[in-house]
Amino acid sequence: MIKADLIVLGGGPGGYLAAERAAQAGKKVILIEKRALGGTCLNEGCIPSKALLNSAKLYRHAKDGAAFGITAEQVSIDHKKVLERKNQVVSTLVGGVGAIMNGCGVEVVYGYGFVEGRNADGFVVRVEEEEYVGEKLILACGSVPVLPGIPGLREGVASGYVMTNREALERSSLPESLTVIGGGVIGLEMASYYAMVGVKVTIIEMLDKIAGPTEAEISGILLDTYREKGVEFKLGCKVTKVTDQGILYEEKGVEKLAKADAVLCAIGRRALTEDMGLENLGLTMNRGAVVTDEHLRTNVEGVYAVGDINGKVMLAHTAYREAEVAVNDILGIPDVMDYSLIPSVIYTDPEVASVNDTEESAASKGKKVRSICVSMNYSGRYLAEVENGGGICKLIVDTKNDQVLGVHMIGSYASEIILGAEMLIASQKPLKELQKLVFPHPTVSEIIREAIFM
Ligand code: FAD
Ligand code: NAI
Repeated sequence: MIKADLIVLGGGPGGYLAAERAAQAGKKVILIEKRALGGTCLNEGCIPSKALLNSAKLYRHAKDGAAFGITAEQVSIDHKKVLERKNQVVSTLVGGVGAIMNGCGVEVVYGYGFVEGRNADGFVVRVEEEEYVGEKLILACGSVPVLPGIPGLREGVASGYVMTNREALERSSLPESLTVIGGGVIGLEMASYYAMVGVKVTIIEMLDKIAGPTEAEISGILLDTYREKGVEFKLGCKVTKVTDQGILYEEKGVEKLAKADAVLCAIGRRALTEDMGLENLGLTMNRGAVVTDEHLRTNVEGVYAVGDINGKVMLAHTAYREAEVAVNDILGIPDVMDYSLIPSVIYTDPEVASVNDTEESAASKGKKVRSICVSMNYSGRYLAEVENGGGICKLIVDTKNDQVLGVHMIGSYASEIILGAEMLIASQKPLKELQKLVFPHPTVSEIIREAIFM
């Protein structure tokens, strides 16, 4: 039996950052990972998807360069090379996490961790024949794709006809056509890549809009942009069956077939909590996720749950911050998790980024707001760099105190600007004060300054 101050189960962003922070503070930490350090984020999520999307963006720039005075003949994209580069980026980053764990003295155990329960020394986790005991336990096992009981779906996954994010990021041959179930973040990001490299993409979405909670006008602009790129949408449609020809779906009560050479199922993710002995701890669960408080504590003293496993906000940057809050609680450092200002980005082309309230969410909290909307073309840098870019930037302002409550953007660089927007909201300063800020010129971020003066 090997003892530690802390056992971390799962080596994704939540797990590896928790392990690093605790080890840096002098704790003896054991990190158990069944697959690869970096978890979903580094291996089959955030990073590989962005590597693919950047290749697609460069390809588009090369093809559409005429307006910028650039003509290139016989521009092509080599999907295998794109994958090779993606794999290289992933392995560099995974290696980097390993080096960090090594450097700060975290013992990484590769294998499937099963929680046996508690003994006098702490929480017992078994990996094959070895038992590890931690005075504290952080659960960071992540999430898996939702695969509902649609007839033929699971058989499709088993045969390889239906992909999840993992296969969609690894597939070496391109299908002629791809049908995506779900017009959310994964569906849209993957469709962006596949459509750009010449695959005929159809997205079936059960709601009447795409990109889930994205601000309505921005979601509409994104939809129009995708349609211009040739992506077909079946909105308000219910998938009824997966056949080996394609997807049967219901549109206004009529059953139709969307033929496809391949299918991607991206209709959400759920916390991974089964088959690892969590029932031996007596944890309070909610719809399959581990319930946590603002310190990331579970109902069992000494056990924490960070990242996707608690089902709150399934984003890597949330997992990072939750990991820090949990470790601070273990170290006795006062800290709480604030979920109110978590930015969200969809790395489509154009990018979508938002933070905090929309008009609707502010109204639901009883706040009176005004919305300031400016075209991204008001930014000289944006106009200089983006041809036919129809982006917008929207500020949601509280009419009571003139403070910014939310920012929503669509357009190039939105992902890089949203942190600044988050800081404006966090400052709780009225527009008049924010007008005194000096923005670097020329930058696309000046669009926020334009909006502040409206
Ligand atoms: P994970 O990263 O899932 O890590 C959990 C780890 O635990 C895994 O390595 C797993 O192997 C391990 N594990 C599980 N059970 C056991 C066990 N019993 N024993 C040992 N090990 C175990 N988020 C963003 O913020 N930005 C993005 O751009 C973004 N893009 C994404 C793109 C895709 C395609 C997907 C699928 C997700 C994306 N996400 C993105 C979400 C992000 O990947 C997750 O929110 C994040 O990885 C959650 O971190 P985590 O540590 O909770 O879990
Ligand atoms: P999602 O929740 O973003 O979108 C799922 C979509 O599928 C929704 O629009 C939903 O209405 C639709 N849907 C559900 N059931 C359906 C059905 N039966 N038929 C048709 N449509 C259906 O989930 P997604 O795209 O799978 O992503 C999972 C999570 O991964 C995200 O919520 C996010 O936390 C994370 N992620 C984050 C990214 C980012 O930050 N850029 C990128 C990719 C994933």
